Amino acid sequence: MPYSDETESKILKEKGFLDVIIPSNLNLEQEINNLRKEKNAVILAHYYQEPAIQDIADYVGDSLGLSQKAADTSADIIVFAGVHFMAETAKILNPTKKVLLPDLKAGCSLADSCPPDLFEKFVKEHPNHVVVTYINCSAEIKALSDLVCTSSNALKIIESIPKDKPIIFAPDKNLGKYIISQTGRDMLLWDGACTVHEAFSIDKLLELHKVYPNAKVIAHPESEEHILQTANYIGSTAGMLNFAQTDTCQEFIVATEAGILHQMRKEVPTKKLIPAPANEDNTCACSECGYMKLNTLKKLYLCMKYERPDVEVDEKIRKRALLPIQRMLEISK
Ligand code: 13P
Ligand code: SF4
Repeated sequence: MPYSDETESKILKEKGFLDVIIPSNLNLEQEINNLRKEKNAVILAHYYQEPAIQDIADYVGDSLGLSQKAADTSADIIVFAGVHFMAETAKILNPTKKVLLPDLKAGCSLADSCPPDLFEKFVKEHPNHVVVTYINCSAEIKALSDLVCTSSNALKIIESIPKDKPIIFAPDKNLGKYIISQTGRDMLLWDGACTVHEAFSIDKLLELHKVYPNAKVIAHPESEEHILQTANYIGSTAGMLNFAQTDTCQEFIVATEAGILHQMRKEVPTKKLIPAPANEDNTCACSECGYMKLNTLKKLYLCMKYERPDVEVDEKIRKRALLPIQRMLEISK
């Protein structure tokens, strides 16, 4: 039996969304569309979100595209269907707007691999370095940075730094190693990684390639070096989608989070898309990001209805974190 709005709101405050029961016949898509209009809200979604969320979003993209949209929007409310660091970046860019995240627990293993106190110590131990951080990190880490980058502009950002300047790169060591291999820059790497992208199995991938010898491997640069060495294309989620669309090959082994397959199937319906296999010891033996999948259509609806949970950033940290993000957006124009 569904609760009254008042009871629903009380449960939300005390326990969160999971305990709220909504009528089974409620048309969530229609309700979300009504709320979007009524509240002048924009829904931004990452490619790893569940299909129903991608389909209802105003914009689906990679981290760079999502930051650019967040920086440009005239909406009063930004509903961020992604993980916390993405919504936090939108808040840093839009301090006066409400930024909603359907589930506040939607974090990121890579962001978690870089605690601010340890990173601050590391930066202090290596003075005179330009500090570049991958956008998958907290506002506190961005506040300690000179430049932020994403997987789609990382090479350009690093190449914008004078050659004689030493660089610290954090938190992703796999992306860092890839950048070093492409630019020849000697960077000091933080030892962080994404558990989803580190779960791909090279042995199973090579076996799979024997079954599909004509398939091209496309991989996200958060993957480990041995996976990237097998790849015909390495790039951001948007870059991988674009490659699958524009390349003449008809079969692709896709080494990134499985959510991207939804958009890829829509854009290249006639091509064969094969998800890269994960190690057996990966909890679900697949390549799903448990954090991304915490957001559901129901939680999206509830967060728009009650305008919570919303993402907050301490103003001092926000101002410092804004500068490296703005520099990134400027370089990426
Ligand atoms: P993209 O910016 O390539 O979409 O990557 C985001 C991410 O979290 C990859 O795991
Ligand atoms: Fe973070 Fe990895 Fe999930 Fe991307 S896939 S959001 S890097 S945990």
